[in-house]
Amino acid sequence: MKTNGQNGAGELLRYEEVAAKIGGMIKNGTYRAGERVPSIRALSRQMRVSANTVMESYARLENLGMIEARPQSGYYVCSRLAEPAGLPASRERETDIAPNPVTIGDVALEVMRNIANPSLVPLGGGIPNCDLLPVDKLNRMLSSEARRFSLQSIAYPPHQGHKLLRTQIARRSLDSGCTLSSEDIIITSGCVEAVNLALQAVCRPGDTVAIGSPVYPTFLKSIQWMGLKVLEIPSNGKGMNLEVLDYAIRHNRVSACITIANFNNPLGSLMPEDKKRDLVALLAKQEIPLIEDDVYGDLAYGPSRPPSTKAFDENGLVLYCSSFSKTLAPGYRVGWIVPGRFKEKVAQLKVLLNIATASPTQLAIAEFLTNGGYDYHLRKIRRVYARQTALVRDTVVRFFPAGTRVSRPEGGYILWVELPEGFDAFKLYEAALREGIGIAPGTIFTLGDRYKNCFRLNAALWSERIEQALEILGGLAEEMKQYPIERPEKTLVSYVTY
Ligand SMILES: Cc1ncc(COP(=O)(O)O)c(C=O)c1O
Repeated sequence: MKTNGQNGAGELLRYEEVAAKIGGMIKNGTYRAGERVPSIRALSRQMRVSANTVMESYARLENLGMIEARPQSGYYVCSRLAEPAGLPASRERETDIAPNPVTIGDVALEVMRNIANPSLVPLGGGIPNCDLLPVDKLNRMLSSEARRFSLQSIAYPPHQGHKLLRTQIARRSLDSGCTLSSEDIIITSGCVEAVNLALQAVCRPGDTVAIGSPVYPTFLKSIQWMGLKVLEIPSNGKGMNLEVLDYAIRHNRVSACITIANFNNPLGSLMPEDKKRDLVALLAKQEIPLIEDDVYGDLAYGPSRPPSTKAFDENGLVLYCSSFSKTLAPGYRVGWIVPGRFKEKVAQLKVLLNIATASPTQLAIAEFLTNGGYDYHLRKIRRVYARQTALVRDTVVRFFPAGTRVSRPEGGYILWVELPEGFDAFKLYEAALREGIGIAPGTIFTLGDRYKNCFRLNAALWSERIEQALEILGGLAEEMKQYPIERPEKTLVSYVTY
């Protein structure tokens, strides 16, 4: 199969030329805010270039905040021409939408092990700030509930999970725009188990899964373990590019799509409400299940949390997954899945894998949700994460080379940093390790040749040690200016020509 961009400079020049021409027409007012630019097919005919080249050009203009994709409708000129300052450019132009079998290399596995090393300054992982978790209260509830339900807490738990907990989760589902009942919910051992159950329920080995790229690496591991293929769908500050997803699912047999629509790991992005609705509708047209990981949804900085994509699910095709790992207690391993029409299958798989999730921690969390002041706790940690994320952002801006871009999330505590073109974030990761600092280089978030100048930062913690670590990192990046990335001749792999 031949790919655009594989021809090297000639093809790259063409997409840039097309982008420059359309960009120029927007700037000179030929196409005004809110107007539709030519369709991919029309422009490819008019400019005698391939449809893929036009898609590349439009992705570039999208990155520049000049146009936006509207599913099933085409591309439109944005009303505001600039992206919010500091938001990293999306990597659309580097996307290969051919399904890839997943093989995670040894280097990536080693990176994943390294960033979990507790002796490093923990800027690489996705762990919450344990000082913000209600440790004493939860542990008190753990023992009081074990006494109150003495037999139940040591007997086999109900397969679906304790009803007390499921009822509390169902009540809270109103916050994310759903009206669930306890019967819709199956308790799992964390969110990752929920996503794994969902994948197993809807896919068979050899199937293809579409997923927003950059990809949360644990999903890549799950996909590899299950023998699935992956289609990386380019994403930016507003989530997955639905135009590309639409194209991808029309040209490939896709068995499931995975999204982290609220405060994505690693981009920190938030998919707008309309786009969530469009995503659910787009997939529903082809009966493709959507697996939603909403583990950061409760960590919105604003007064209310954003809706889940599940809120727009009229067909039972969304398998909603979440947990209390980011808000209460990652070590309790309590999560849940709302599997929609796949409930029977998921319930069977859960029993097959581990019968049920441990009782005591379920009961303690149910009690915390009932009498522990969960909303008060959330308000408190949201404020802290908002402040700390801003501090880490500002510190990056202060110490890193000019031209560095950093995401501006509206929830969670994950930041995505993009060094100027030519910088090698993997080298920065290696140099940081030698200084006892962990960061997650962009290359572990993809199976392709992408995100080389990017890395993920965990902003859950703030202290003098963190500030110093960021200063050291910035200094290392400054030094690397002299040793730019060694780019192979053809780094940009773009859309596959069908
Ligand atoms: C997107 C995402 N999903 C799931 C998890 C893990 O969830 P759990 O500990 O509940 O399995 C993480 C943790 O980093 C995450 O970032």
